[in-house]
Amino acid sequence: MNAANDDKVVIFDTTLRDGEQAPGCSMTINEKLRVAKSLQDLNVDVIEAGFPAASPGDFESVQTIARTIEGPTICGLARCNQQDIERAWHAVKDAKKSRIHVFVATSEIHRQHKLQMAKEEILRNAIDSVTFAKEFCDDIEFSPEDASRTELDYLAEVVQAVIKAGATTVNIPDTVGYAVPDEFFSIFKYLKDNVTGIEKIRLSAHCHDDLGLAVANSLAAVQAGARQVECTINGIGERAGNCSLEEVVMAIKTREESFGVDTGIDTQRLYPTSRIVANVTGMHTPRNKAIVGENAFAHEAGIHQHGMLKNRATYEIMRPEDVGLARSNLVLGKHSGRHAFRERVEQLGFTLDDLELNRCFDEFKQLADRKKDMYDADIEAVIMNVDVGNTGPWLIKELQTIAGTGTVATATLKLTHVDGRELNEATEGDGPVAAAFRAIESATGIQLTLKNFEVRGVTVGDDAQGEVTVTVDYNNQSFRGHAASTDIVEAAAFAYLEVINRIARRHDSKNTN
Ligand code: KIV
Ligand code: ZN
Repeated sequence: MNAANDDKVVIFDTTLRDGEQAPGCSMTINEKLRVAKSLQDLNVDVIEAGFPAASPGDFESVQTIARTIEGPTICGLARCNQQDIERAWHAVKDAKKSRIHVFVATSEIHRQHKLQMAKEEILRNAIDSVTFAKEFCDDIEFSPEDASRTELDYLAEVVQAVIKAGATTVNIPDTVGYAVPDEFFSIFKYLKDNVTGIEKIRLSAHCHDDLGLAVANSLAAVQAGARQVECTINGIGERAGNCSLEEVVMAIKTREESFGVDTGIDTQRLYPTSRIVANVTGMHTPRNKAIVGENAFAHEAGIHQHGMLKNRATYEIMRPEDVGLARSNLVLGKHSGRHAFRERVEQLGFTLDDLELNRCFDEFKQLADRKKDMYDADIEAVIMNVDVGNTGPWLIKELQTIAGTGTVATATLKLTHVDGRELNEATEGDGPVAAAFRAIESATGIQLTLKNFEVRGVTVGDDAQGEVTVTVDYNNQSFRGHAASTDIVEAAAFAYLEVINRIARRHDSKNTN
């Protein structure tokens, strides 16, 4: 293969690995599967499904994705040691196409302060790990972490050695988002000019966004010959995030004459996939976010609107429908049938089985009774909510709160448990939400520390649903829950209970194993 002359850029999605490392973005296994299915529909080439050695939960989710998803290669991350590599292989081996991705840091600052290893030791470690991984799998990716701050001659030495050991993709990470585009371009150029065997492998870029340059750096790498870009939906990831998939893909497509390459992405799935990731993680995109933000195709100024009416190209460089934004708002109402509902759900990018669809349809009907206008965002909220309210073990049967100026807020709660228990609690709090949280804690016996509380209007109008996202600490671990309702106290209680249910399920499964 001469990957550098290839005019296809492989899209390697790491939403489920690097993206999930973003504070507050951890996902349950079902949420990961939902994201993986949408990445499959988007037609990404590689899904980095997680870091199997990180925890049994990570292993299980990578394995489930490997066993379920067809089309993209499923990749598992591993440090340069045998246990990690074996773990990664066991997690991905059932996929139709599997990849092991091994990494070790190479920059001086990491060598000295993190690894306390000399250059030669790291080189040996990298070679041995790629050789070991190659015993299991043909498709091996190697990353010299913090490559952009590594001495160029040493970087070239490591890259040449891992190619000789069998790496098929070599990824150059700008781990701390420090590089600028011309410098990042030069790193790729240097490697292409100085590494024997580089033409046999695929060069890849992995950029972080600390200086807001992740997309620009990735595009510079493509111009220098990189033929894989590592990115995440909505650019989520460690600190300021990773290169945003939708931005890099649309830049390559829209400016085809500048890049002369293509991706296999079905760009009409970009918007639905972005919405799914935003809903699952609770990390909503800013209105002005390129490609998928609410305002990305909105034209407010009269002069712009006038130009648009004459010819769209005056102010629009991409068509909203090309990114899947051909939405008909205000679509369904309480008289809509199951068939119309299913069609809309599919247009919004969700794949639901019959059981899930029926549950969502029932919820939709209940909401439509309370709410006049049903927007797409309401339907998305119903789909995201349906697991929240139904997975248990605890369910809210009744919740009443009383609050007002000069009165102490109270919550009266009835909770049921799948084992048949029914618990009633009445508690006070600083406000109705605090009272409801306290009632849930006393009933379930699980105490959380609330770290963050956010409310967001799902749509417009005074009957709009409010979506609540809570971030809490439990046993030194951070959890996030979210739920939507036309009543924000109810949404808050559902979001809080969602976290408690997750903790309780984990506890129950430990006790039965
Ligand atoms: O940012 C980074 O260096 C990484 C590597 C593991 C590829 O995420
Ligand atoms: Zn990274």
